[in-house]
Amino acid sequence: MCGIVGYAGSQDALGILIGGLESLEYRGYDSAGVAVYDHGKFEVTRATGKLIELKKALASKHRTASAPVGIGHTRWATHGRPTETNAHPHTAGRVSLIHNGIIENYLPLRAMLEEKGCHFLSETDTEVAAHLLNTLLEDGMEPLAAMRAMCAQVKGSYAFLALDSKNPDRVLVAKNSTPIIIGRGEGENFIASDIPAILQHTRRIIVLEDGDLAQITAGTVYIENKGTEVARKEEVISWDPITAQKGGFKHFMLKEIYDQSRVIGDTLRGRISESDGSVKMPELEPLRAKAATLKRIVLVACGTAWHACLEGKFFLEEFAGIPCEVDYASEFRYRTGLIDSDTLVIAVSQSGETLDTLGALECAIGKGITLAVCNVVGASICRKADMVLYTHAGPEISVASTKAFTTQLVALQLLAIFLAEVRNSMSANARRNVLHAMLQLPAAIAQTLKVDSEVASVAKGFFQARDFLFLGRGRCYPIALEGALKLKEISYIHAEGYPAGEMKHGPIALIDEQMPVVMVLQRERPLFEKTVSNLKEVEARGARVIVVTDATDEDLKGIAAQAIVKIPFVAHETSPLLLNIPLQMLAYHVAVLNGTDVDLPRNLAKSVTVE
Ligand code: M6R
Repeated sequence: MCGIVGYAGSQDALGILIGGLESLEYRGYDSAGVAVYDHGKFEVTRATGKLIELKKALASKHRTASAPVGIGHTRWATHGRPTETNAHPHTAGRVSLIHNGIIENYLPLRAMLEEKGCHFLSETDTEVAAHLLNTLLEDGMEPLAAMRAMCAQVKGSYAFLALDSKNPDRVLVAKNSTPIIIGRGEGENFIASDIPAILQHTRRIIVLEDGDLAQITAGTVYIENKGTEVARKEEVISWDPITAQKGGFKHFMLKEIYDQSRVIGDTLRGRISESDGSVKMPELEPLRAKAATLKRIVLVACGTAWHACLEGKFFLEEFAGIPCEVDYASEFRYRTGLIDSDTLVIAVSQSGETLDTLGALECAIGKGITLAVCNVVGASICRKADMVLYTHAGPEISVASTKAFTTQLVALQLLAIFLAEVRNSMSANARRNVLHAMLQLPAAIAQTLKVDSEVASVAKGFFQARDFLFLGRGRCYPIALEGALKLKEISYIHAEGYPAGEMKHGPIALIDEQMPVVMVLQRERPLFEKTVSNLKEVEARGARVIVVTDATDEDLKGIAAQAIVKIPFVAHETSPLLLNIPLQMLAYHVAVLNGTDVDLPRNLAKSVTVE
């Protein structure tokens, strides 16, 4: 969603702001703007469209002096169309302000401010915050006190950054339910909605908590909560700026597909003791005492992470013998979830900031045991849950999730084995076999990546199709769903994922010579034979079939398909992860052939921080 960057130091703020906003482009946006304090007044520049438009607008101003303090924003429209007037920063009197989140009570606040004579220019909820803050400052309040009083009147979620022209050395910050971090430098400080925005400058970060207000100058960082100064822990981020770059690939998505061999290794590193068939995850120790009596697991997530949960259900039920339910976070949070102290609620999220996942997790707090499976250190869901299992995928920039998904599968599989060991639901030998297969994943992924050029040529035969059906059974059913989601989100081609056995109950009516069917075919019996029967059924109706499989040549005799993409076989438990990779590639190549904006697909945002 919206990206936020702020700076106070001795360099020209504009360069830092634009650079930071560029690294946040992956969040999705439709307009952008910056404000710096220049020669006794704010210089606000805004533009609709991509950052290139903002840069053009800035170039036309022919600035000569540099400004050491500023704020920048990329807006993903919620209230009000994506126009220049609605773009942030919003200026009211001496205040220039940017915002990520939603002000729920903006209509009554706007009416109240209009009555006082404030003149509004935009359709946004944000502009009320600028006017409110300006009014309080003009009433004689000190900047932080005014920010505190403004936030007390605002209901909703926000990360605010504000400049006050009468105190031009500082950036004021406020946070509630929307992420914001401070980056510490030498003689300069940074503020951002997300780590990549400041990674070029510092790795020392402070994650603000809900209710925090901050005041940042070049040399100082002051943070308070409920009017009292608080010390927030400084963390050093291990991500390096290079891993946040494209590394020679045409798109972040392709780079991230190729990253998988390495990052799966990172997710496994130090967590497996193969000899005794156990996993070593001190972060899960609080679960050990409760594991034996757990009666139920509820997994909540959105989008791709939800598909990871569906796959996780297979491992958790099979290995740990605990009944699992998987729910969309946006549904779970508004339902009576019947969570009790014998229920483990797992929230899975790459960003850890997805508002619905956070909301679903909050519903379980104080009722069940909560665990976050997350990629971003210190993200909101990590701070709310009882325990956190990090996935170690590194920065995922492309909106389409790839390496975050496969690391989530690995993390959930590790969790299932941890629970299986504690509950004694799986023999040491069986655990050892699965762990051995998991340790082979980095090499197996490297082998699987070799099908890339083959998948690229398959894509050439299919990229003009208007619809796709993805089918799979058992562990391959969530993989089929994920394959369809990936294709539709980046190529804008309608795609449906379905359990192959359900096809006869409806979707088979869609099949004709125009319809490509991607069949995810695992060699594991008895579902192999069942899936082959489904394949024959679609073939008989003229479908153009692409098979993605780990089956042997012998198995595949007698299967006529337009394309058969074969991947290496390691073990039934790890195959779904490997079978997912050609589907990621298929989506990628089809999108490239269709000329879409692969890393920043239309209408989508990397991190969905609104409902
Ligand atoms: O950050 P999260 O994992 O919570 O994000 C959840 C979804 O928004 C995300 O997986 C989305 O579906 C991806 N764009 C899919 O590629």
